[in-house]
Amino acid sequence: MVIHSLKLNDFRNYENIDVEFNSGINFIYGKNGQGKTNLIESLYLVTHLKSFRTSKVSDLTLYSKKISSVQTDLSKQNVRHDIRITLHENLKKVLHNQKIVNYTSEYIKNFLSLLFSPDQLVAYKEFPLERRNFIDRILFLIDKKYFQRIKEFNRIKKQKNVLLRNGKKGDIFVWNQLMAVVIPEIIESRELIVEKINEVLEKIFKALTGRDACLKFFYGNDLNSKTDLSPDSILKYLAEKMDQEIGNGYCLFGPHKDNFWMTLDGKKDRQAFSQGEYRIAYLSLQLAMNKIISGMLGFKPILLLDDIFSELDETVCENTIAYITRSDNQVFMTSTAIPEKFMDIGDSFCISNGGLSTA
Ligand SMILES: Nc1ncnc2c1ncn2[C@@H]1O[C@H](COP(=O)(O)OP(=O)(O)OP(=O)(O)O)[C@@H](O)[C@H]1O
Ligand SMILES: [Mg+2]
Repeated sequence: MVIHSLKLNDFRNYENIDVEFNSGINFIYGKNGQGKTNLIESLYLVTHLKSFRTSKVSDLTLYSKKISSVQTDLSKQNVRHDIRITLHENLKKVLHNQKIVNYTSEYIKNFLSLLFSPDQLVAYKEFPLERRNFIDRILFLIDKKYFQRIKEFNRIKKQKNVLLRNGKKGDIFVWNQLMAVVIPEIIESRELIVEKINEVLEKIFKALTGRDACLKFFYGNDLNSKTDLSPDSILKYLAEKMDQEIGNGYCLFGPHKDNFWMTLDGKKDRQAFSQGEYRIAYLSLQLAMNKIISGMLGFKPILLLDDIFSELDETVCENTIAYITRSDNQVFMTSTAIPEKFMDIGDSFCISNGGLSTA
């Protein structure tokens, strides 16, 4: 995938920019508070139809304005796509090749950018929901049935939650039956992607760090230690726990409680990783996803790497640049540093107060 051009009108601190990008590496640099992350956010918006920093659409429009727009011309597997997003107060209108996009889920199955940002890293580290969303977003792309299964599970969970609050045992049993069928399917897809991640993760971590250390990704399936995973056993387990669930008024067991974590030479991330190690491990995970998508779907996601080099030592920075250059993705990297090292491997853009100039 390549974003060829980007036009921003009254988006965050950009009044008006119209820029063409390199199909390889784009290095964006500038002092603090100039608009680097805002630019990355606009590119993320084009591929995810949402921001990674706010759920309020109106936050994205320049203060004092009511309407903003993001326009881009991108290509995927040699097909061009014209994307126009208009943000009007809290409403978002998306045109894809002049046609209105009614379903975000359909749109985002076509495109993908992988984001590394300090905010995203904190959220990933802190919240199991973020980790599940990260895995799910990739599974939606590579496993066509997975999206339907998650949608179905969420529908069942919502209905069951209402009944749990009302304590209607007979009705709850019926929803448990439906849940017991879909849960093993979700687990199976999640297990499969974790297996795929582990086929490449260790090698990527070694390439980035130059260290002979073993990075592994784990899936903690909520029901694993509680029951075996056949529909009958899950149904039996949920029946046993019905009173407890009624007491709480919401579903306590299932894939919405699943967790993911990493280990480095057997030591668990949150307890044992240094700040830098967590950053590299998270970046390795994104790059593992990149490899999986490229291999399975035949296109390369866009890599959005915001403020990537802070806290990384010089060796890791150099190895990362070498890895990314070899990976042949379109890359947007931001930094506060002047990009001497990047001058000959891509295009550089200097950002100052919402203005952008080529270096
Ligand atoms: N809706 C908005 N309208 C106008 N300005 C905004 C809006 N939202 C954010 N800004 C401003 O945009 C500026 C640039 O923000 P951004 O996060 O892109 O900076 P940055 O270049 O990434 O800085 P850093 O290096 O510190 O990460 C900030 O000063 C912020 O206050
Ligand atoms: Mg920033």
